[in-house]
Amino acid sequence: MTERVSIFIDQQTLEAKIAEVAAQINKDYAGRSIHLICILKGSSFFACQLAKHLTIPTTIDFMSISSYGSGTVSSGIVRLSKDLDEPVEGKNVLIVEDIIDSGRTLAHLKNLLSTRKPASLSICTLLDKPDRRVLEIDADYTCFQIPDKFVVGYGLDYDQKYRNLPFIGVVEFVEE
Ligand code: IMP
Ligand code: MG
Repeated sequence: MTERVSIFIDQQTLEAKIAEVAAQINKDYAGRSIHLICILKGSSFFACQLAKHLTIPTTIDFMSISSYGSGTVSSGIVRLSKDLDEPVEGKNVLIVEDIIDSGRTLAHLKNLLSTRKPASLSICTLLDKPDRRVLEIDADYTCFQIPDKFVVGYGLDYDQKYRNLPFIGVVEFVEE
């Protein structure tokens, strides 16, 4: 089996939408500051692009948490491999996620962070696959809802590959 990647959402469409969502965040958080939490590794490309359009006072911290093994099927196990450097108490926290699939990662993260007493806690996701949801969790900001397809690029990987693609692509597995 070999993999083939075809463009699903092109770079221009992605980045226009990210700028639009950032403008909405600027409006919603006017007069306040925002503390972005980027979920490594997948959200890093999205978080950087989003952050560049924020005009409100912005800080950013990184956390590594995952519910995936190496394939395309969720293990259901959420693992925290790098915690935040800064406390979130009293801050307007915005979790920046690459994709919401089963919802397990974000449900776990939301519970964890809410125990640390942020002033507010919201979620911004680049992609949402609502058909795959196991746990009820909704993002406050969603760039694109997509069907149940395995996607890569713009930070998202298949077996650690394709994160560097500047677009969102669909992986097809073809017989050789
Ligand atoms: P959840 O906990 O099932 O919502 O899974 C969310 C995580 O699974 C994301 O942060 C991704 O790392 C990974 N994931 C889910 N769907 C995809 C996909 O289509 N492509 C690549 N990674 C995915
Ligand atoms: Mg992820």
